[in-house]
Amino acid sequence: MRRFEGALRAVITFDGPAAAGKSSVAQRVARALDVPFVSSGLLYRAATEVATSAGVDTSDEDAVLRALRAHTVALEPGSAGNRVRLDGRDVSAALHTDLVDANVSFVAAHPRVRDWVSEQLREVPPPFVVDGRDMGAVVFPEARHKFFLTASVQERARRRVGERAADLEAVAAAIARRDALDAKQLEPAPDAHHLDTEGLDLDAVVARVLGILAERGLAPPAAKAAAPRGGGASP
Ligand code: C5P
Repeated sequence: MRRFEGALRAVITFDGPAAAGKSSVAQRVARALDVPFVSSGLLYRAATEVATSAGVDTSDEDAVLRALRAHTVALEPGSAGNRVRLDGRDVSAALHTDLVDANVSFVAAHPRVRDWVSEQLREVPPPFVVDGRDMGAVVFPEARHKFFLTASVQERARRRVGERAADLEAVAAAIARRDALDAKQLEPAPDAHHLDTEGLDLDAVVARVLGILAERGLAPPAAKAAAPRGGGASP
């Protein structure tokens, strides 16, 4: 049951593969529009942290669900970043460990874990900007503005580690591996705007997204105030 049925159109979704810049872009767009940013990946990471801390086999869906039900996980959205509380304790710093990275795609593949994450996301009051893999296609199909960001594996690896050749190949291999593991849940919505970010820096991608939103009449608050009467859209 969706608490915010009609208002869900005000959600803006950013989906795409690992390291495509979704969360950086989504956070900047959220800040420009003065609405919260919501990271769906953090909930998958929190589920993984719960499962691994409980010592359960992450390929066992029932065991993962049992571990999840034994705890309270709360996502606290914010414009700068998100915090996650596990039984009231802030565990945000523990969600980007190698152990979580190595297990999260397996935990995220379980349909009932995906339902658990989706239910929590649908409890967040709109408007907000959310990033993930299937936000536009599955979790918020009624969202009015959906973006799907892509870039080649090499470009994404370069963004993550810079040009340091020593790390580049290993990081590119790790990204390609995660692409393969996440392929099933990486689903562009049919009405998503696809943005190939190859060769674009963060400022350029954000400017492009804000330009598209402005063309559709959704301008940042400051620009709206400065816009001539009768139009919020920039040229
Ligand atoms: O976004 P982030 O890289 O933190 O996501 C971690 C992992 O969570 C992804 O690699 C993917 O396996 C899973 N995930 C997902 N669906 C989402 C967001 C994340 O399956 N909407």
